[in-house]
Amino acid sequence: MISYKQNITITLILFFIMSYSYAQNTTHKVLDKSTEHKIDSLLSIMTIEEKVGQMNQLNGFWDATGPVPKEGSAETKYEDLKNGWVGAMLNVRGVKQVKALQKVAVEQTRLGIPLLFGYDVIHGYKTISPIPLAEASSWDLEIIEKSASIAAAEASSSGINWTFAPMVDISRDPRWGRVMEGAGEDPFLGSKIAIARVNGFQGTNLKATNTIAACAKHFAAYGFVESGKEYNSVDIGSSTLHNIVLPPFKAAVDTNVKTVMNSFNELNGIPVTASSYLQRDILKDQWNFNGFVVSDWASINELINWGIAKNKKEAAEIASKAGSDMDMEGSVYIKELSELVRNGIVPESIVDDAARRILRVKFELGLFDDPYKYCNLDNEKSTIYNPKYQEQVLDIAKKSIVLLKNENSILPLKKEKQHIAIIGPLANDKNSPLGSWRLASDDHSAVSVLEGMQEYTGNKLTFSKGVDLITEPTRFIKEVKINTIDTSGFSDAIEIAKIADVVVMVLGEHGYQSGEARSRTELNLPGLQQKLLEAIFKVNQNIVLVLNNGRPLAIPWAAANVPAIVEAWQLGSQTGNAVAQVLYGDYNPSGKLPITFPRHVGQIPIYYNYKNTGRPSNNNNNVFWSHYIDSSNSPLYPFGYGLSYTTFEYSNFNINGSTFKINDTIKVSVDITNTGICKGKEVVQLYIRDMVGSISRPVKELKGFELVDLKKGETKTVHFTLDKTQLGYFNNDGAFVVEPGDFKVFVGGNSLTSLEIKFELID
Ligand code: BGC
Repeated sequence: MISYKQNITITLILFFIMSYSYAQNTTHKVLDKSTEHKIDSLLSIMTIEEKVGQMNQLNGFWDATGPVPKEGSAETKYEDLKNGWVGAMLNVRGVKQVKALQKVAVEQTRLGIPLLFGYDVIHGYKTISPIPLAEASSWDLEIIEKSASIAAAEASSSGINWTFAPMVDISRDPRWGRVMEGAGEDPFLGSKIAIARVNGFQGTNLKATNTIAACAKHFAAYGFVESGKEYNSVDIGSSTLHNIVLPPFKAAVDTNVKTVMNSFNELNGIPVTASSYLQRDILKDQWNFNGFVVSDWASINELINWGIAKNKKEAAEIASKAGSDMDMEGSVYIKELSELVRNGIVPESIVDDAARRILRVKFELGLFDDPYKYCNLDNEKSTIYNPKYQEQVLDIAKKSIVLLKNENSILPLKKEKQHIAIIGPLANDKNSPLGSWRLASDDHSAVSVLEGMQEYTGNKLTFSKGVDLITEPTRFIKEVKINTIDTSGFSDAIEIAKIADVVVMVLGEHGYQSGEARSRTELNLPGLQQKLLEAIFKVNQNIVLVLNNGRPLAIPWAAANVPAIVEAWQLGSQTGNAVAQVLYGDYNPSGKLPITFPRHVGQIPIYYNYKNTGRPSNNNNNVFWSHYIDSSNSPLYPFGYGLSYTTFEYSNFNINGSTFKINDTIKVSVDITNTGICKGKEVVQLYIRDMVGSISRPVKELKGFELVDLKKGETKTVHFTLDKTQLGYFNNDGAFVVEPGDFKVFVGGNSLTSLEIKFELID
């Protein structure tokens, strides 16, 4: 008779042999039969505790990215690991550390199932790319994919096999600090960027050692938290959910993203962690997602604070039934779920399904072939900070900059015989440009704007910070302390400004003023920076304002008075070089805003794809129309907006007919000419308006864009196609409908474009 232990050994040997022959290509959505057989055999020998163990993710012993629970010392975590009660870790990094823990899982547990190691690799690991919102400003899908692949290469060389990225939350509220992590306000652009990022992280071969599993987060509607306040309620209707919020998630799932993270918010009264409508009905059933859902940090426990569960037991029951497969650092599943299954409260099939999904990702990553595949010290050494990545992130950074204003051609700067005064608290900062969410990066490792400018030696440069933005050094988990009192540096700055030809002022937000839990009620230049700007303006109006920020800012005074404004966001490791190369014209800026800039915080939410309303204008010259009495309705800078050192002209806007059937493909073309002084790139944007719908339709919706490179004087024709997938929309029942009727199609260089053609769609 074969003993229990021998039986396990034989089964394990069998599936390990089979796993060697497992097909390499994991990018298709059809389940691989041999993998499913291996999972079957593994599940058949797992105890309930071991299956629940797969659903448990523990934080490592440093780098907390959320409130750390009081229970759960290092010793208990090791005990859980050895028992096989842990399926994944987070915040463990470096080959040595990862290997040590993986060894415990593989060599000391009964079944030797390898661990996943998750980490927030959001915009780089050690070499830091621009913040995601900045990258989205490039509208350049190739470099966005490249950025994610660099991040994956560095992180994977350091033992990590799973990133909690991309964040694909659409948001219309810049008060919410996490807009820096996303792609802005538009679902079409957001979907394209979601695809690029998933492809960048996961590559074409997930079993390679330089690709990692991606995670589309935060599912769903987190970007719509009430009044922009973190971790809050969301109350939106079906149309906004299906047409605005969900498309980037669907795009990520269709790109075979391996995991999805749920979100901290509630949606229409149900905390998302408890929402089987979102997690089961939409994600797993309708979209056929076969990866797994990880909770956000302890979001299962938070069901108690939401008043949805009375205790941890109930929280575990509700979340598991709703389809939250893995419990991130909450330890609720590991404590409660096995008993709930034994007592028949949670069906074992729920635990089986969750464990299967998690094991599937482990197989797809090739961890059963080689659990130490990401643990090569030599590779780690040669990959981290590889100089080629600095070159690449510099390229990405330049392309992420948006030129907002350039009067009297103050830019580009002359390269010789000028006195340039560089002023501002962020000008010589090497830390803040790394932005938020750059956990593994080395502090103060960015090239500052001052350092970048010093690379150009033909001019005389002087520097004064003018004022401090923050009063003490800050870290990811700390509140940022802003200087609102000390103006003692103003006089030095005024002195150098008085005698300069041009003043470059580097102002904005500290890198840690945006990101998680960094909601703001104001969108001005924080602290004393506005005062400094106005004081300098009094003595020298030749100002180039370089903004460093993680969200749109409301800066009406600067927009009205300062002749040149450059939106440089937080551009990562190569910030200073990228800014200097743009200011000096060695790179002609080509970025376009992926999110609207308001004039005033009171306009929020403000976005380009708004509804016309019943009273869109003041035709009768009276007060009764949809507007403010103390501000214009229009944004300071609209979605899709950005200037260049050259100019572009659109002509020959054509469509291949005036009436189309629902199944037709409509062809639209436009000529674009570079009419200015130098070569340049333009993002040609295509919008539609469905004039009459069974529910009201937005005044414009982006449905296509192309980044066009043009020599001076050159003309190119840009072609777009439109079909029912772009002309339809989700109605209030969540059904996709294409309705006959009149449409307008627009092209241009930003969302305010009025270059339009009409057509009719018929049955
Ligand atoms: C954030 C997630 C992040 C997780 C792990 C949470 O607080 O909301 O985006 O991935 O922490 O660090």
